[in-house]
Amino acid sequence: MTAGMKHRNIFLIGMMGSGKTSTGRELARLLDYSFVDMDGLIEKEAGTTISVLFQSRGEEYFRGLESRKLQAVCNKEHQVVSTGGGIILSAGNRDAIMAAGTAIYLKTSLDWLVRRLRGSKDRPLLAGEGLETKLASLAAEREKLYQSAAILEILTDAKTPGETAAEIVKMLKA
Ligand code: S3P
Repeated sequence: MTAGMKHRNIFLIGMMGSGKTSTGRELARLLDYSFVDMDGLIEKEAGTTISVLFQSRGEEYFRGLESRKLQAVCNKEHQVVSTGGGIILSAGNRDAIMAAGTAIYLKTSLDWLVRRLRGSKDRPLLAGEGLETKLASLAAEREKLYQSAAILEILTDAKTPGETAAEIVKMLKA
């Protein structure tokens, strides 16, 4: 661990397409923490993809699984955790994250979200027409929640995951 840093866990929060997973992997490497991808954990436990889970069991079932997995993750330390974009919808999840470590909000403009998510097949909440409108309404609904849980905020727009991760390390040391 870098001298002066005592973060039990680092949680990356933010919209789909903000770069949480790729940045998280880089950040874990830089900090020598383990890397945890929440969506990956959920898919592993469910034995199927998030899209199929949404279709077959519905969003509420998925949110239950997500909260349970988060509780398990919060019992461990020295992890960089890439969360699903909707994790902050539940007050219980926000409290768990704030108690178990430091949340960093990866903020991304609507233009860049659209750019990154166009053609994405594995985001059930964005399926169908009107990608930009859907993203805009999710972002408007969630912005305050991301900000309320996060200690740091970083704009990811044109940055590579490596650049974002390096910037986070710098901010954490400051
Ligand atoms: C969701 C984001 C997804 C995944 C699920 C729901 C959301 O994760 O958890 O499709 O509500 O924003 P990513 O943010 O990793 O795409």
